Amino acid sequence: MALLYNDSLVKQLKRPWNWAGISRHLFRDSINNFRRRRRPNRAGSHVRFDHVITETLQCIGANFETQASHFQEHGWAYVEDFFTPRIYENVLVGWPSLAFFELKPDLAKSFDRGPNWTLESDRAGMMGIDPCFYYGFQSLLMEGFVKRVADFVGDQQRRQLSSLASAWARGGHHLLPHVDNASKRGKSAVVNFVIFVDGTFPPLASGGTSLFRTNTYKEPLFVPKSLQNTALVYDTSANYFHGFPKVAFRKYSKRIIAQYSTVDDKVLRQSSS
Ligand SMILES: [Fe+2]
Repeated sequence: MALLYNDSLVKQLKRPWNWAGISRHLFRDSINNFRRRRRPNRAGSHVRFDHVITETLQCIGANFETQASHFQEHGWAYVEDFFTPRIYENVLVGWPSLAFFELKPDLAKSFDRGPNWTLESDRAGMMGIDPCFYYGFQSLLMEGFVKRVADFVGDQQRRQLSSLASAWARGGHHLLPHVDNASKRGKSAVVNFVIFVDGTFPPLASGGTSLFRTNTYKEPLFVPKSLQNTALVYDTSANYFHGFPKVAFRKYSKRIIAQYSTVDDKVLRQSSS
C-alpha cells in the first residue's frame, strides 16, 4: 500500500507493452511453481554452521549505532557493513533461488517478492527457505536487536518487528517513488529498513531503493553508494519519497525489508517495499 504516486508516471506504465511484460512474468511464475515443488531450496554444502544464533551473538554490526544521530536529525540513515561478516556470508550464499520469488501484478511496484514474514501470519511465507538465509531473518527478529532499533530511533518507545520481506529487482523492474501508507501513523511510528544484500553497479540503475524529494525520479535526495551489505533506514512519516527507476538490462538488487513499529500500533501487512 502506498500513497502519492505521480500521475504521469502511472499513465506511462499503463501502456500495453507494460501489461505484456507483466503477463510474461506471470507465465514464468507458473513455471516456478512447478520448480518449487520439484527442487526444495537447501543450504549449500560448503556453508558451515559453527554456531547457533543466540541473543548474545552480535549479528548486526556496531556501525549501526554510529548513524543514529543522522537518523534522529533527518529521518533517514545509511548504514554500511550492516550484518556482521559471518551472518552476511550466510545470507548471501543462502539467498533463495528465483523459483521462490513471484511478481505480483502491480504496475507501480514491479519487482520479484520472495520469502516473507509478518507478525500476523507468522512464518507462512517461508516455504523452502534456506537455513543460511534464515539467519538473516532471525537476526532481525532478535529481541536484542529490536532494543537497539528503539535506541536508534531515540524516542524511548517500545518497538516490535512487524514484517520482513525479501525482494529481487531485475532488468525492467521499477518502484515508483511513493510514501508508505504507514506514514499516516505519525512520526517514527513505523521505521523501515531496506537491507541491500547484493546488487550490481551503479546502484540507481540496479534497483537500489533511493530517496527522492518529489514523486518523480528527478530530484534524488539520497542514492546508496553500494548494494553489498548496506542498509537504508527511513522513518515512513518523513517528508520524502522512496523508489527506484527502471532497472537496466542485466542489473539487479537483492534486498530484505524489515519494518519496526511501535508496540501499540496496529500491524500493517505488506506496507513496506
Ligand atoms: Fe514503500
